[in-house]
This record gives sequence, C-alpha cells and structure tokens, in this order.
Amino acid sequence: MVEENGSIRTLSVDIGGSGVKAMLLDIKGNPLTERARLDTPQPAKPEIVINVINSLADIQGEFDRVSVGFPGVVRGGVTETAVNLDPDWIGFDLATSLSKRLNKPVRVINDADMQGYGAISAKGVELTITLGTGFGSALFVDGKLVPNLEMGHHRFRKGETYEQQLGRATLDIIGDKKWNGRLSKAIASLENLFNYDYLYIGGGEAARVKIELPGNVKIIPNISGLLGGIALWRN
Ligand code: BGC
Repeated sequence: MVEENGSIRTLSVDIGGSGVKAMLLDIKGNPLTERARLDTPQPAKPEIVINVINSLADIQGEFDRVSVGFPGVVRGGVTETAVNLDPDWIGFDLATSLSKRLNKPVRVINDADMQGYGAISAKGVELTITLGTGFGSALFVDGKLVPNLEMGHHRFRKGETYEQQLGRATLDIIGDKKWNGRLSKAIASLENLFNYDYLYIGGGEAARVKIELPGNVKIIPNISGLLGGIALWRN
C-alpha cells in the first residue's frame, strides 16, 4: 500500500481563476519544494490548463501521485461547474485526462474543500471560506467533508450572491474598506446559518482582511490550499 511507503511524493496542484500553483508534499503532507505558480491561461480551457500543470510538474521534480483542487463542483474526478474558468470544463474528466498526461494517479476535489483539509482541526463543525477570484466554501463535521458546498453562488444581500458581493472583481471596484464591511456581514450571516465551531478564511485576498475577527474565526495562509492535497490519499 502506498501509505506504508514513506518515500511517496504527492504533487499538489491548486487551479485558481488567476494562477495555477503546485508543490510537492511528503507522505505526511509537509512541503518538499517551494510553491511554483504560473498565470491561469486565458481562455482557461481544459487542455491549456493541463499544459500549464504539466509545466509546473516538470519543474517540481519526481512524484508518484497528484492531488488537484479545482474551482468548481467536482464529482468522481469530473468537473461539473467552472464559473471562473471556461464552460468547456462542464462534464470534463479531469482526473482521467491529467492522469494520462502525467502518467500518474490523479485525484481531484473542489479547491475550497482541499484548502479546508489543509486548515481544519477535525473537531466539531468547521467552515472554510476562500476569498479570491471566486468565493469558495467547505464544510467539515469532525473532519468529515460535506463535499461541494457552493455558498459562493448562494444569495447573500441586495439580490447578490456572496461571490458577487465579495469576489475579486467587486473588491477591485469597491475597495478594501467597503469590502471589509461586507465581509463582516457575511461572517455574521454564515455564523447564524452554520453555528460553526471554527471558521477559517483563506484565499489570495485573505491578506486584505482588516476587520477584527471573532475568537473562533482565523485567517489561514494561502498555502493551505496545497497542503490539503495530502488528505485526498487518506483512506
Ligand atoms: C466556485 C467554487 C470555488 C470558488 C473558489 C466559485 O465560483 O463555484 O466551486 O470553490 O469559486 O474558487
């Protein structure tokens, strides 16, 4: 079994709306390489993104298996939505295509789900949200994932979704102050809905969070998105 082999290396990949990131992890999920990043190609069509992952894999060195966090709903390795990439991803078998390309086993989950795995304590109800191009969300109960929670496209306020109110495109328009105000309201709304024990906030724009956070809310480093990749190979 692979889990018994201490030298197994996992290539962890995070596909985002603006960048594709990768690093190698050891069997325990510790980083073995520096995180590498390439811009997400435009248009972000499956074959072109796979080329980018292949380039990142080349510079990372030897690995035995691949974990991918994808910014949309993923079921059985197939991507079902991709609002911030390209419609060609709908119904695309990413796990099989990438596995053929890299010649290694590949597992794929939602990017926020993967980021959550990199952050949680596996106790109680834990919610992760990611602030980047899109608004990601992941829910865990005692470490068990409720997959593909799509809070980002759920109605939040003023007839808009969490993603429309808090996504990067909006942040660029409304600026940090207003965005932080909205984030406070979003946290209050999510707390009322989920009554979580912990909320983790990650993603590329988490660094722009300036509000004082409640004790059970924590900013997590962006690298959690890659560190969570090891969880895909746990039994
Ligand atoms: C997608 C989610 C994803 C999030 C962050 C949203 O637009 O629907 O699946 O987790 O963006 O990338």
